[in-house]
Amino acid sequence: MIGLAGDISVRNAGISFLTSERVVEAVRDISVEFSPGSFTTLLGPSGCGKSSLLGAIAGFVSLTHGQILVDQRPVNRPDGSRGVVFQHHNLFPWKTVRGNVEFGLKMRGIRKTERQRLVDEILDRVKLSAFQQSYPGHLSGGMQQRVNLARVLVNRPTVMMLDEPFAALDAQTRLQMQEMLLELWNGLKMTIVFVTHDVDEAILLSDRVLVMSRRPGRIRADFEVPLARPRTAEQLTSAEFNRLKKYCLELLREESIADEGAPEGELVELQDLEFTERVNR
Ligand SMILES: Nc1ncnc2c1ncn2[C@@H]1O[C@H](COP(=O)(O)OP(=O)(O)OP(=O)(O)O)[C@@H](O)[C@H]1O
Ligand SMILES: [Mg+2]
Repeated sequence: MIGLAGDISVRNAGISFLTSERVVEAVRDISVEFSPGSFTTLLGPSGCGKSSLLGAIAGFVSLTHGQILVDQRPVNRPDGSRGVVFQHHNLFPWKTVRGNVEFGLKMRGIRKTERQRLVDEILDRVKLSAFQQSYPGHLSGGMQQRVNLARVLVNRPTVMMLDEPFAALDAQTRLQMQEMLLELWNGLKMTIVFVTHDVDEAILLSDRVLVMSRRPGRIRADFEVPLARPRTAEQLTSAEFNRLKKYCLELLREESIADEGAPEGELVELQDLEFTERVNR
């Protein structure tokens, strides 16, 4: 199973929302594969459909067109094997850290000794064993987000989606959380799809970055990050890093200018990108 699980195939996905006044086309005809164990980040202007696409992979947003398969099976509803972490945690304030992490396992009817084993292991991984009897309200923002990660990871997801998970944290905590996420990913080997507005974060964490166009979101660019792992903060100042960053910022700038009424941006041909390589196609 390991090495194969966590394969995501998005095929001609379109997502539209019907509001009382109009139809909002969020995502148009996106086809993309995420290979098992890969770390991919979606970048794109606000409102371009990143969260909608993530929600569709998770199974709580319906597609209007196309299909999404995870490990060859169509996604129709949320499932613990596809975990989602949002910017703001949704922990139960009346439950302890341990109670919050254990809750999903209880709901799934996992027996007590197994629950204890799984919870102990994951609390250790997120370095919260010493705080297991604390209540979320008494923890810092970074610790709350670690509980949130643990709550999802305790289900041993093969796919993990993170929607701007560190956006509300201060710079120092954010760096610690990024490091921890890479450690968790390395240890647990799941496929990660990550959304951020922070170009540095996208490049530092990912194997691959997808830049989306403005709404309706399509894939404007798709490139691999050729930086060695383990990634370190020193890489933030390397020439290669800055080249990728400049390229991403330019694409995002074009998309936000386009948002203000300029003609629609062209789809970038990947062979035009001298420093990138097309992946998974
Ligand atoms: N449930 C919904 N009903 C109606 N419209 C929606 C719904 N969810 C999203 N939208 C609209 O779809 C478009 C894409 O939204 P989405 O939240 O996916 O964008 P995003 O790229 O995640 O934006 P941001 O960077 O601001 O988080 C937006 O115009 C949004 O208003
Ligand atoms: Mg969003």
